[in-house]
Parts: sequence; structure tokens; C-alpha cells
Amino acid sequence: MGYRNKSVTVKVPATSANLGPGFDTLGIALDIYLEVKLSLSENDKIIYHGEGQDTINQNIKNNYVYKAIQLLFEKAGEKSGVHLEINNNIPVGKGMGSSAAAIVAGLFAANELIDNSFTAEELVNLAVKLEGHADNVVPAVYGGLTTAMIYEDQVYYQKISLPEELQIIVIVPDFNLPTEKSRSVLPEQLNLTDTVNNLQRACFLLASIFNGDFTHINKAMDDMIYQPLRKQFIPGFDEVLTAAKSNGALGAALSGAGPSIIAFAGGNADGDSIGEAMKKALLEQNVTSRIYNLHPNQHGIHLQTESM
Ligand code: HSE
Repeated sequence: MGYRNKSVTVKVPATSANLGPGFDTLGIALDIYLEVKLSLSENDKIIYHGEGQDTINQNIKNNYVYKAIQLLFEKAGEKSGVHLEINNNIPVGKGMGSSAAAIVAGLFAANELIDNSFTAEELVNLAVKLEGHADNVVPAVYGGLTTAMIYEDQVYYQKISLPEELQIIVIVPDFNLPTEKSRSVLPEQLNLTDTVNNLQRACFLLASIFNGDFTHINKAMDDMIYQPLRKQFIPGFDEVLTAAKSNGALGAALSGAGPSIIAFAGGNADGDSIGEAMKKALLEQNVTSRIYNLHPNQHGIHLQTESM
């Protein structure tokens, strides 16, 4: 078979989910990446560099890229081993879509390598089943700002392009917050007022971005449902949001399940000062952190094939 002599490289963006009111729905792609190079090989060889390497290398066959490749191969009846090189710049366990990126990278790379048995739509549905939610998977694949809908077990999405000059400042605390822990405090039921408020804000946020009118996104990014419960895990959460906004951010929210916090700023804003102010607010609670000054990724996954 022809594909025995080729290698596939994929580059998948980090993502930030929810954006305040869009719980399990909205997501944006960011310009830092997970890169994976994959070819077939008699025996498995996996090399992992970058974010999370000390922990991930301790049990390398447990990483999501490899597990997703194995799953795809199993579905396609491919029994070969793999040569897999992973370079990861996405912070792991921080609410920046590292697991969604890994699953997407593994599935799309494996599929490309064995000559595309599955459509992109099928791969997205598979990735969402593995990941559990669509809000990181969809922007990781398609880029931009996406809104995902699960209807009768199928994933549907719409994408809006973000202004290129938009600055996205992400503050990444030096502790991990597993998604399961962050979800464990969510209520079983919601009250109608909070639900309506969130629905209004999510729709307002999407329409504001679509129209390029950022005037009120500060208000539209203020979630009523999960942030008030999750902020117990992030000392100084409210102060970080205030610091971001008082230094010129347009709006700020918990990034995905956290603990990272994301802020939007216009092209002319001083993104460095916003990041420093957010970092300082966390440090006042004895939490150290890293600042990422990012921009939107507009195109999502990038795949490249080479003959060997
Ligand atoms: N939307 C998810 C959550 C995170 O907030 O728990 C990413 O899928």
C-alpha cells in the first residue's frame, strides 16, 4: 500500500472554550500549537517534547495523540506500529484545549496517513465522543470562533472569523485544574433567570463579534452559571478579571474549565500591561503564572504529507 512510505505532519491550535456565557458551546482557536509527525513503523516509537513532557513521558502510551491513532487504526483495520513525534506548546491541564488538540491531531494524522477512510465530519464526531464536549474540538479543527451544537448525537457548527488584530491575553496559573474537578461543582439544575441571562449574553456576544462591535462584550462575557461556582478553585479570580478590564481589556472570562483566564483586547491596547496586571493579581494570592499574548488562529488544523 502506498501509504507505507509517507509521513504526515499535523499542526493543531490551542483553544479556549465557553468565553463566559457559552458553556460547552463557544470556542476560539489560538495561535499556539501542538505539532505531530506520524509514519508507519514495525514497532511503536513515540517521542514527546514540550509542555507536560515530564509527566507525559512517564506513561507515554497513555497520551491522547497515541490513543486516538490507535482508535482510528482499529476502526480502519490497520495493524501496523507507528513512529510518532510530538512537539507540544499548549499548556496541559490548564483549560487551553490540550486534550482536544491531542485527540484531533491523532485522529486526523492517522486518517491522512491511511488514505482518508473517514470524512472530516466523521472525525469531528469521533473526537467529540472521546473528548466529551464539542467546544474545544470544533475550533481546533476549523479555527476562528465557533459555536457548536449537538443534535441527536451529531455535531453541527457555525464559524465566525475574528479580527486578525484582536489580542488574546491568557494568564496560565502554575497549578492544574482537571476538567472533572471543575465540572464536579456544576449544578444539576439551573434556575430560569440565570439561564435566560446566559442565553441573552451568549447571543449578544456572538452578534457583537459578528458585527465587529465590541462595545458591550465586557457585560456579555459575564457568565451567571458556572464561573460563580468554579472561582473557588482560582484564588483571586475576580481580581484578575478586574485587573484585566481596568487595564484596557474588552472582556475576560475563565478559559474552558480553567484554571487559565482569558482576556480580549483591541489591536491598539497595551496587551503586555493587561497580562502583567492579571499576573500581579494572581501573585497577590500567592499564585504564580505565565502570560501568553496571543492572536486568533483562523484556519484550524493544518495537515501536510511527505513521501519518505
Ligand atoms: N466546556 C467545558 C467546561 C470545557 O467548561 O467544563 C471544555 O470542553
